[in-house]
Amino acid sequence: MELEQLLRMRRHILRCWAVLVALLGLSVAEDFPWTKNNPGSFYYGTFPAGFLWGVGSSAYQTEGAWDKDGKGPSIWDVFTHRKGKVVRNETGDSACDGYYKVKDDIQLLKELKVNHYLLSISWPRIMPTGIKAEQLNEKGIQFYNDTINSLLENNITPIVSLYHWDLPQVLQEKYGGWQNISMINYFNDYANLCFEKFGDRAVAEKGYETGEHAPGLKLGSCGAYKAAHHIIKTHAKVWHSYNNTWRREQRGMVGISLTSGWGEPVDPHSQTDRDAAERYIQFHLGWFANPIYRGDYPEVMKNYVGKKSAQQGLGTSRLPTFSVQEKTYIKGTSDFLGIGHFTTRYVLQKNFPFLQVSSYHTDHDLAELVDPNWPAPGPKWLYSVPWGFRRLLNFIKTQYGNPLIYVTENGVSETLQCPQLCDEWRIQYLKGYINEILKALNDGVNVKGYTAWSLLDKFEWNKGFSERFGLYHIDFKNKNKPRYPKASVDYYKKIISANGFPNQREVENWHRKAMDTCSATHQHLAADSLITHMEMVTEIVLPTIFTLCILIILVPKQNLAGRSNCSFCSLTITNIKHSSFNSNITHIH
Ligand SMILES: *[C@@H]1O[C@H](CO)[C@@H](O)[C@H](O)[C@H]1NC(C)=O
Ligand SMILES: *[C@@H]1O[C@H](CO)[C@@H](O)[C@H](O)[C@H]1NC(C)=O
Ligand SMILES: *[C@@H]1O[C@H](CO)[C@@H](O)[C@H](O)[C@H]1NC(C)=O
Ligand SMILES: *[C@@H]1O[C@H](CO)[C@@H](O)[C@H](O)[C@H]1NC(C)=O
Repeated sequence: MELEQLLRMRRHILRCWAVLVALLGLSVAEDFPWTKNNPGSFYYGTFPAGFLWGVGSSAYQTEGAWDKDGKGPSIWDVFTHRKGKVVRNETGDSACDGYYKVKDDIQLLKELKVNHYLLSISWPRIMPTGIKAEQLNEKGIQFYNDTINSLLENNITPIVSLYHWDLPQVLQEKYGGWQNISMINYFNDYANLCFEKFGDRAVAEKGYETGEHAPGLKLGSCGAYKAAHHIIKTHAKVWHSYNNTWRREQRGMVGISLTSGWGEPVDPHSQTDRDAAERYIQFHLGWFANPIYRGDYPEVMKNYVGKKSAQQGLGTSRLPTFSVQEKTYIKGTSDFLGIGHFTTRYVLQKNFPFLQVSSYHTDHDLAELVDPNWPAPGPKWLYSVPWGFRRLLNFIKTQYGNPLIYVTENGVSETLQCPQLCDEWRIQYLKGYINEILKALNDGVNVKGYTAWSLLDKFEWNKGFSERFGLYHIDFKNKNKPRYPKASVDYYKKIISANGFPNQREVENWHRKAMDTCSATHQHLAADSLITHMEMVTEIVLPTIFTLCILIILVPKQNLAGRSNCSFCSLTITNIKHSSFNSNITHIH
């Protein structure tokens, strides 16, 4: 009797605690435990039922058909056509010919048995000048409408990004692109058109990057801050448009997606290093996430940019400010947070010498370091550090009140020039990173979906075709652009089917099978490149061989629990992706 009472009391106390914690979570951000980095061993277990698995791509990187069917030029078309901007002067003019291969690519998605596909809409394909009042391109609208319908017919939820860096060239040339505040209205018109045309069935995301990419302007520090300022306001406006006009009937979600690396203090017991690491995260993720989740730029950004601006003799900070009304308008404008994540840095304090021309890259007074023992299968910037992902996800939980998270981009590239279908390093990368998401879920982080980046090898911005992120290999020299599965296709399929990592024996088995399959496929590919050569001369179209190879693969029964028939809407800003990793990197051992 007494014991029962005691237990009941304890349960009651626990419940009060839970309520209290929930209340606190709304108002006060917890402190992130900087000193508690415990990577631990591999964790066997499965994801909650309903977890969403997908792959992603983006318009400019895959579609090709850059000037077909009434599409207007984007800043990336113009940028890549200038010589010397991209490795080997390559362009996305035809890329993967995705514009003509929607049916083929949907077959690949079906093979993977993904729940969702993240694609982006090319703004100038549906509005050639970027301005709704000037011109609409019906053929472009039709193209995306058909793509979305085909995905849905195949039970794949389309997640549509409204902007993945391909701004209409006219807006850049005439008005200065994101430097100009009137982009807010132009983009809002475009977003509303997308909601109107596709929103009853699909969803939206958008991205922007300030850096060394198109339009290729050296805007300096003010430029980046100003563009970001306009993008944040644009995001908020589009969210409100959706909330006020479309949500009631469409019931979608509009979020923001941010790409950020993780910054780990070199010495977590040093306050200076912890502060530096926090600055790293705040200058990357917090720059956009803080206004949206907490109503303003991070304090540390305001302090540092303000201080540097004063040293330069400027009357006001180079970081713009939000008015009180704007803060209220912006705060809370995200139904979920999309996260793109690729790699990690160690961070420490570094005072930059006083510069007359200060910039985003020197404002935060820190140096980035990497451990050369980290695997780096592909390009120099992309080290595989899975535990950094769990840290980042936990940071988001503590800073932004445990928001709903979808991982929108995560993957690794290879820089090899000869086809390499046995991509064991990608298998290790995906296995490690997805496992850290599982650990983060156990930490209480609210992650609901994962998107592997990317479905296909594709045009990799200023790296051209020299970096390959695809689960599927593409022979770009063949004008048919055939797709071949790498070993990671087989492996990722297994993770999806099992909804995680059931046990060691099975997971090791997946690995062995994937490697067997890829070496078989590889032989086909080697034989095929000869055929490819003849094909180009004789113009005979041969069926591509990937179907054959996939058919040999055993497909375990799919877990249908994860299927969702409600698509969600998101608005994505892809912030500082590759370019931020190019500078200030030092090696430690
Ligand atoms: C790219 O174009 C520039 C200018 O025409 C030329 O000098 C350079 O050799 C080209 N690079 C390659 C790899 O073709
Ligand atoms: C888009 O697809 C939907 C569903 O099939 C259809 O009702 C609508 O008319 C299509 N719109 C365009 C512009 O093709
Ligand atoms: C900004 O765009 C508007 C058109 O919307 C244009 O009239 C104005 O000149 C542009 N401002 C700058 C600084 O380019
Ligand atoms: C979103 O829309 C709903 C329904 O129209 C409204 O009650 C709510 O206040 C809106 N939210 C914001 C933050 O404006």
